[in-house]
Amino acid sequence: MRKQVKNNVSWVGYMDWELETFHGDEYSILNGSSQNAYLIEEEKTVLVDTVWLPHRDEFIENLRTEGVLDKIDCIVVNHGEQDHSGTLPALMKEIPGTPIYCTANAVKSLEGQYGKLGWDFHTVKTGDSLDIGNDKKLIFVEMRMLHWPDSMATYMTGDNILFSMDAFGQHFAVEELFNDKADQSLLYKEAMKYFANILNPFAPFVTRKLDEIGKLNLPIDIIAPSHGVIWRKEPMQIVTKYAEWADAYKENQITVAYDTMWEGTAKLAHAIAAEINKQDPETTVKVFNIAKTDKNELMTEVFKSKAIAVGSPTCVNDILTSVAGWLSFLKTLKFKNKKAAAFGCYGWSGESVKILQEKLIEAGFAVTEEHVRSCWNPDEEDYAIIPALAKALLSEEK
Ligand code: FEO
Repeated sequence: MRKQVKNNVSWVGYMDWELETFHGDEYSILNGSSQNAYLIEEEKTVLVDTVWLPHRDEFIENLRTEGVLDKIDCIVVNHGEQDHSGTLPALMKEIPGTPIYCTANAVKSLEGQYGKLGWDFHTVKTGDSLDIGNDKKLIFVEMRMLHWPDSMATYMTGDNILFSMDAFGQHFAVEELFNDKADQSLLYKEAMKYFANILNPFAPFVTRKLDEIGKLNLPIDIIAPSHGVIWRKEPMQIVTKYAEWADAYKENQITVAYDTMWEGTAKLAHAIAAEINKQDPETTVKVFNIAKTDKNELMTEVFKSKAIAVGSPTCVNDILTSVAGWLSFLKTLKFKNKKAAAFGCYGWSGESVKILQEKLIEAGFAVTEEHVRSCWNPDEEDYAIIPALAKALLSEEK
């Protein structure tokens, strides 16, 4: 089965309604996903990417049933990660000798993962092109670090389609394929989650690449990423969003994230949220128990926030492992231009707040002096600090 994208371009990917996690268990999938592969049938027949290994047989069988398997003149590999290249080894056994167009780094990633199998690689760089007949050509654009060093996008002239790889994608299954057919709020929620959790560490590259693509002056009618919807209605809307998201994005939100042992730190979390709301009802405040919350959903809330408050009790001279792991993830995402405050209860040694502050600084947050360090359970003295902490988080000053 194929689904038409435009003229002689079809989607031949895998709609993954049942996927629950991605990158091992690093990324939660709540609304399905897709691995988008595309077939271009001009004078040359070109396959753009494949699908993940578990769907290998179905993918190849589909190409056979559609009568195109033996017609493929070349394969474009925009990125070597397994969700798009996992089928290549089996596919290349079916159509050995088929030329593969990819970046030099993609040769490294493909040979690194699958071995040196004698594939006919044609390495390309930005501006290189491939004539596919019918007065159309493919123009390659390296997308280094978006999100791997091997990533690239492919632009098809004539139909003005940008096969953008992971960029502009979402883990979101939409059987009808196109952005105008999707639930818009879910689409943007998933697009933002994808950006916050996968692309944000590379935000400066996003900004530079968007400028570079803009300067190429290529008319873009369709953006066809490797996951989720194909942007055909006002496709530049997601480019505009990416420019916004890549620029130290924040909304008028503060997120309180904590874990607790005997509810003392939980009480502080809720008191901080209530005080923020009291001081500024216009600011959205959300509270999450880190140990009980999907980490990727929570990171998306942090992405939207102008400030966060993070709490952990002291446990064996340290913070709770749930919070430690979460802070380690937080650091990798390289959020910018956000404030943070620390709080927590302790019974004996009481190191947690200091450790939280150090880790938040390491993660790039501007940490407020104001903090709450509560012995055993929060008392009046502890609660009396919270208005100043809330004020510091709400303040525009760095
Ligand atoms: Fe969808 Fe980086 O692979």
